[in-house]
Amino acid sequence: PRVTFIQADGREDVVDVADDTSVMQSAMDNLVPGIIADCGGELTCATCHVYVDDQSPFQPPTAEEADMLECAVDPEPESRLSCQLNLRGETSTVVRVPASQL
Ligand code: FES
Repeated sequence: PRVTFIQADGREDVVDVADDTSVMQSAMDNLVPGIIADCGGELTCATCHVYVDDQSPFQPPTAEEADMLECAVDPEPESRLSCQLNLRGETSTVVRVPASQL
């Protein structure tokens, strides 16, 4: 799988990761800035917030993710928590990192 991270200042990081890696873990492993992930993927922090314009590769948010997204800074309809976005196979995705996390 491949993830493209786009920062609010235009920086782009393209990373290739192993199957069953979350978008959040992909950022951690590749030192991509802006994904803070305070809780380490436990769905209790909302600091792994990203915007995903094309969510077709992913399951819709669970009720728990939707609840935690209400705590995110500057939420938009395309907001997701990147620790809940699992990458498999040929998945290729583009996520935008909120300006508030730069
Ligand atoms: Fe904390 Fe995703 S890392 S909610």
